[in-house]
Amino acid sequence: MSKKAESVFVCTECGFESPKWMGQCVCGAWNTFVEERIKPAAGAASSPGGRRRPTGSGPAPGRGGLDDILGVGKPAPLGSVTSGKTNRIDTGVGELNRVLGGGLIRGALSLIAGEPGIGKSTLILMAAICVARRGAPVLYVSGEESPEQLRMRADRIAGGDIPSSLLIMAETDIDIVCEAVDEVRPVFLIIDSIQTMYTDDISSAAGGVSQIRACTDALMRSGKGMGIPVFIVAHVTKTGDVAGPKLIEHLVDCVLSFSGERSSGLRILTASKNRFGTTSEVGAFEMRDDGLAEISDLSGCLLDGPLGQTEGTIATAACEGARPLLMEIQALTAGAGTGFPRRSAIGVDAARLGMILAVLEKKARLDLSGSDVYLNIVGGVRPEGTSTDLAAALAIWSSARSVVIPAGVVAIGEVGLAGEIRSVRGADKIASEAKGLGFTRLILPQKNAEKIKTPAGLRLTGVSTIQEAIALLQV
Ligand code: TYD
Ligand code: MG
Repeated sequence: MSKKAESVFVCTECGFESPKWMGQCVCGAWNTFVEERIKPAAGAASSPGGRRRPTGSGPAPGRGGLDDILGVGKPAPLGSVTSGKTNRIDTGVGELNRVLGGGLIRGALSLIAGEPGIGKSTLILMAAICVARRGAPVLYVSGEESPEQLRMRADRIAGGDIPSSLLIMAETDIDIVCEAVDEVRPVFLIIDSIQTMYTDDISSAAGGVSQIRACTDALMRSGKGMGIPVFIVAHVTKTGDVAGPKLIEHLVDCVLSFSGERSSGLRILTASKNRFGTTSEVGAFEMRDDGLAEISDLSGCLLDGPLGQTEGTIATAACEGARPLLMEIQALTAGAGTGFPRRSAIGVDAARLGMILAVLEKKARLDLSGSDVYLNIVGGVRPEGTSTDLAAALAIWSSARSVVIPAGVVAIGEVGLAGEIRSVRGADKIASEAKGLGFTRLILPQKNAEKIKTPAGLRLTGVSTIQEAIALLQV
């Protein structure tokens, strides 16, 4: 059959495909369409135009032959379906299991995204070695490194004790990879990285939008068809998006992000999407010479800053998943000189910083309209939720007024637009963790304070407004 070349325009924001160029995409983005040539595979199940069904343009991305594999299309009682919970595979890396919601799920497609050099390959190779030690084949496909390089990394991690069932393959052609998967039937498949994979069905270069989508689609068919958990490694762009862009995020079941300060060795693993568990769990690691070491006492690592020694710093906490996490928040306010004042927030949403500044101005008479404001949660963590609001407000106030907040103080609470302090989740867990770490005072929402038991040695101070919280620190 002749392969008729065809062009399609793909939105780089959401992956929507259009036969003609559009100024604005259905997702609202402007000028995001790029032209891509697509050659349908010979003999591929095709739609009337000869092209595969676009995977990013409908509510059921990547369907096509998948319907048969998944068994959808035939009504069946939900109660008769086996719950995925029973099918978890232990990765052997506790922190990875925790973020995944208990381990790998058969047939699940997971994406691990992070900056180049952060440690994605190391983490996944550690899991691959642990799973392979149980005897069943694990296939690690690398499009970036040679088998020798992989061996060197494995030696560092496993000290030479490499299980014989860990198979590696240095390959970038996804069709060859899928053939190998058919043959080997691994219990765990790793693709490192999706940006290096390509299929001959598509004429654009590896790493392009269409290639990434087609390769992810092929992996999904293989993985779901054979019940293999598949891990895809993806590098992120400078702006923090998964390169390729958001496009594969909606195709996969889990999206994990691996981040951290390269200089400190601390690495944080979070899930921004998880079809089989929560997205609020945090995994913590330290990059060492012999691979990644799991950190169970993450709070201890995040609290080694100058708490109580200088203005603008205070401890705060968030209840991430099952574990309470204590961390340091820092603020710096400085005269903006001329021009527009800068606002910069790391670990805190920029819109929330704007709101907190407005509340401080209106309710606490702290005018920062002429100042630069920098806010940072130390250690590269980005807690979900709003429990760090109050501490952010107090840190900004402390910097602006040059008041040092004592080292033993932790503050939690959501700041409302009226300046009220609203209750947060997991205050009881945070209180016992704070006590365990040696803190002596917890400033928390009044509603939370009324409900929880005071742990011995920790003073709980309930506050209802931002003014009350500031007044506590002024004396
Ligand atoms: P790598 O897993 O290759 O990162 P990624 O896949 O995200 O690009 O890790 C790269 C860095 O980690 C590299 O700078 C070397 C360092 N490293 C260690 O410090 N200890 C180790 O045991 C290993 C394997 C790597
Ligand atoms: Mg790598």
